[in-house]
Amino acid sequence: MRLTNTAERYGAVAQTLHWVTVALFAAIFALAWIQDGLPLSPEKIRLINLHKSVGVTILVLAVLRLVWRWYSAPPVLPAGMAGWELQLAHASHVALYVVLLAQPTIGILHSAAANFPVVVFGLFTLPALIDPSEEVKVILGQAHYWLANAILALVAVHVLAALRHHFVVKDAVLKRMLPAVGKGKGG
Ligand code: HEM
Repeated sequence: MRLTNTAERYGAVAQTLHWVTVALFAAIFALAWIQDGLPLSPEKIRLINLHKSVGVTILVLAVLRLVWRWYSAPPVLPAGMAGWELQLAHASHVALYVVLLAQPTIGILHSAAANFPVVVFGLFTLPALIDPSEEVKVILGQAHYWLANAILALVAVHVLAALRHHFVVKDAVLKRMLPAVGKGKGG
């Protein structure tokens, strides 16, 4: 399987970045849900630190994806799709990239406003980009919460669209984001 994208399908790099991001998204939502239910304890702090580390990883992967997308153009959508469908697909991908960048950034700024460090997997600490502030902390905390809900809705629409392409329209949109099985080199 080739590394770069072709006009017909995503290559190994874009696919790996996509599916690793999906796994990290599942992990970060699970962490948020578990940590929210815990009383303040070393275990809760440990999970919050892990949540932050996964968020920073998602941010780095989003930047890498955009760089890769610029270097290797994504496949074109099937010719049979209506104009509104093409626009919706494009808008939803833009929205996904916006939230992939915005949500971790808000989380990082929220930590700085709350005067807590962001220690990435115990390896290094991100510089605090803003000064501690109770007011800013509350605003960013609310934004992080509401954006999380918006992301769930956006991802639900995205997944339903992928499943509709596969099972209803029966085109190759989902398959081209999956490793090509049983096809020759570059398939
Ligand atoms: C089970 C869950 C998911 C499925 C089945 C899925 C499926 C797909 C498929 C089939 C495409 C390619 C669409 C095309 O060919 O134009 C795609 C692209 C994309 N997906 Fe997902 N996806 C899932 C979850 C996610 C999640 C959680 C995110 C991020 C929050 C995400 C972000 C994106 C982005 C940004 C693209 C555009 C890639 C590009 O062209 O640069 N996906 N997804």
